Order: sequence, then structure tokens, then C-alpha cells
Amino acid sequence: MKVVRPKIWIVLSLASLCVLMVLARARAQSASQTPAPAAGSVPLAEQQFKNIQSFKGVPADQIVPAMQFISASLGVECEYCHVHGAFEKDDKKPKVAARKMIAMMAAINKQNFDGEREVTCYSCHRGASNPVATPIIGGESANAHDGEEHPDKEKAPLPSASEVLDKYLATVGGADALHKVTSRVEQGTLTGFGGQPVPIEVYAKAPDKRFSVTHLKGNDSITAFDGLQGWLSVPGRVRKMNRSENDAARIDADFYFPSHVKTLYQKFDLEAGPKLDGRETFLVIGRNEGQPPLHLYFDRQSGFLLRLVRFAESPLGRNPTQLDYADYRDAGDIKIPYRWTLSRPGTSFTIQVEHIEQNVPIDDGKFKFNPPPAPANGGEHPSAH
Ligand code: HEC
Ligand code: HEC
Repeated sequence: MKVVRPKIWIVLSLASLCVLMVLARARAQSASQTPAPAAGSVPLAEQQFKNIQSFKGVPADQIVPAMQFISASLGVECEYCHVHGAFEKDDKKPKVAARKMIAMMAAINKQNFDGEREVTCYSCHRGASNPVATPIIGGESANAHDGEEHPDKEKAPLPSASEVLDKYLATVGGADALHKVTSRVEQGTLTGFGGQPVPIEVYAKAPDKRFSVTHLKGNDSITAFDGLQGWLSVPGRVRKMNRSENDAARIDADFYFPSHVKTLYQKFDLEAGPKLDGRETFLVIGRNEGQPPLHLYFDRQSGFLLRLVRFAESPLGRNPTQLDYADYRDAGDIKIPYRWTLSRPGTSFTIQVEHIEQNVPIDDGKFKFNPPPAPANGGEHPSAH
């Protein structure tokens, strides 16, 4: 995974800096100009932003996810299309081109795929601003990168998804042992974004509370979920998570995930997974009606969860987040990963746990949204730890 832009403040990629500005501005704007939306509803993009032509009628909180999807699909930063500090301006040609492309994508899907979102920006662009039209000699086939491709002919019959999930639960110690633990504090380091490792602490409490704090030269950056609502904080900026961030945080905070996962999805499918780090895997896909799926990759031999991929919906396509788990060790009677790597297109960081304590009292207040008295602008947090 490529690490980007070492010089920017350690956990902020340029893209997330843009997002930060956008959200801060949008917040100020909607407070001053637009009529307050009805309770519980999100304003439309054209109510909150200044120059919306393609995304009329789309909820405003879907614009940034759509932009993240575009940036990832083309492998570019926000500035490729946007004038710094003035996202509404149409001064850059690629922005104007992108509007045409958004219309083209919709037309292709409408005319050829019954309006299903089969073709996206990524289908053609594959991480480049100019799609390649001629087959590449000696290049790796795109399938090899997919991570979801698997040998067509399986020799041995595959187990059921349920069997693989049961083995996972047994491997990490079983439900009884798992439920004897009710809290955990982990201390370690976060490495990524080209910087030096920085200290991180993760506080987790059953059934679904999580708080992680990264210490950046005295400036704490927090990602938290109190069981219902998640929030993010960097110095001077605190905000609540939006819907898709909240959904992701809920999975991360699930203290008994290995015993609970079966109840989270209506349906599970199983496929032969790709090799991860030389290990054969099973891919279990959790599905709920009307939601993006959850992909879980299990080590065929040991039964451990090696990778989790979740997807956040956007108007143009799904934004993926990948978590790779490693270094499973004993923690009392159960086994937990001491290392995990979080990756998104163009960015990745790794957390290595050095010390853990379990069944320590943690006050519920720690997880609650609790903005400091500093000016609380909207702010994009770089990362969910
Ligand atoms: C490939 C071009 C492209 C890239 C890259 C891109 N955008 Fe956009 N952006 C657009 C287009 C096109 C629109 C106008 C959408 C419309 O007309 O509804 C837009 C609109 C916006 C708006 C609304 C501005 C307003 O007030 O009308 C914001 C905010 C925004 N983008 C943020 C971002 C951020 C943040 C990033 C980086 C994560 C980003 N964009 C990356 C093409 C791009
Ligand atoms: C069916 C294939 C296809 C799809 C889907 C597609 N594009 Fe493109 N796009 C192209 C091709 C081909 C070009 C290059 C045209 C050229 O070279 O003149 C291009 C060019 C562009 C450019 C101009 C690049 C530059 O700076 O010269 C932008 C910006 C762009 N696409 C954005 C998008 C976005 C955003 C989406 C999704 C909403 C998208 N494209 C979907 C095929 C596609």
C-alpha cells in the first residue's frame, strides 16, 4: 500500500484536508444562509453547496463521499479539479469534464444495465486520470489485483459460511471466554502517512463502545463511538460522524464481534478467497437488504480473521475500507490481533499494540460526544483508528 505525502500533518492526507475545509465551510454556510432542515433530515446538496448541477436532489452529506469516490477512481487529489479554498468555482477543466462523465456514467447504466450501477468511474479509470485504451504488454491483469478473484475450480468442497464463522469463534477462544472479558485498554503505536510512529491508546468496552486517541506531539486526535453515535476530534475541531461513518464505527466497536457477527447480517455467502500473505482464505460475505456487504477473509488453516473490508455507499460508487489483522496473541483466555492495518485508496496506517489490560473499569462518559469549549467547527477526521 502506497504511503502518501509525508510532509502534511501526520494523519491528514491532502484529500482529508480538503474535506476538512469543505465541512467547516459547509457548516458555516448552512448555518447562515439555508433554512434549517426539518429535524432528522439532511439538507439537499444544492441547499448546502453553491454550484451543484450534477448532484441536484442528492442529500448534502453524500457530496463528500462522492468526491472521495471520484478522487480514488482517478487517483488524484481534490486540487486536480478544484481551486484551493473555492470548491464552487468551475475554473479547472477536469471539473467540467467530470460533470460530463457523471452524466455519461448514468446514461451508460440506464441504457445498458437497467439503471443498475454496474459501470462507475473506476470501471474505466482504474486509478488514472486518463483511461488506458490499449491492452498493456506484460502488465499484470486487472484480475490479479482484485483480491476477490479466486480459482474457478475448487478441488475440495467448500464449507458453509456458518462453519467458517463457527471456527473463527472457536479459534479466538469461544463465546464463553470472550464474554468473560468486558473491557480492554490497548497501548501501542500508530505508523503511517510517512511519519514516525506515534503513541495510541484504544479503550473498548462491551458491548459496543470504543475510544481511540492518537498523541501527535501533544495534540490528541480522537475517534470514538458511544454505542449509538460516533464522533471525531482533532485539536479545535470536533464533529459527529455521518451515517456511513457511524455504521463503520459500530462494526469496529462491536466488542464481541466474533460471537456477534452472525446476528449482524441476514445472509452469508461463502467463496474461495485469494491468498493473503501466502495463506489460503475463505471469503465470507455478509449481506443485508439495501446495504453494502461486509467482506470477511478467514485463514483456512488457523480460522483467524485476516481481513475485513467494508464499503460506504456514495452516489457514484462504494468507498472501500480494508482492515488487515495480524499478530494474534493470547490475551487471557482469548486471542486478539495485536496489529492491524487500515487502508483506503491512496492511504494506509498500521497500529501495533504493545501492552493490553482487560476488565479494567472505564467510565461510560469517556465515549460520549463531548465537544471541548474551543470553536467547534466541522472537521474531517483523517482516520478511524
Ligand atoms: C475529477 C474531478 C473532481 C475531483 C477530483 C473532486 N471533485 Fe469535487 N466536484 C467535482 C464536480 C464536477 C463538482 C460539481 C458537482 C455538481 O455539479 O453537482 C464538485 C463539487 C464539489 C463540491 C461542491 C462545491 C459547491 O459549493 O458547489 C465540493 C465541496 C467538493 N466538490 C469537494 C471535493 C473534495 C473534498 C474533493 C477531494 C476529496 C473533490 N471535491 C474532488 C469534481 C471533482
Ligand atoms: C466508459 C468509460 C468511462 C467512465 C465510466 C468514466 N470515464 Fe472519465 N474518461 C474516460 C476516458 C476514455 C477519458 C479520456 C478522454 C480523453 O483522453 O480525451 C476520460 C477522461 C476523464 C477526465 C478528464 C481527464 C483529464 O484531465 O484530461 C475526467 C476528469 C474524468 N474522466 C472523470 C470521470 C469521472 C468523475 C467519472 C465517474 C463519474 C468518469 N470519468 C467515468 C472514460 C470514462
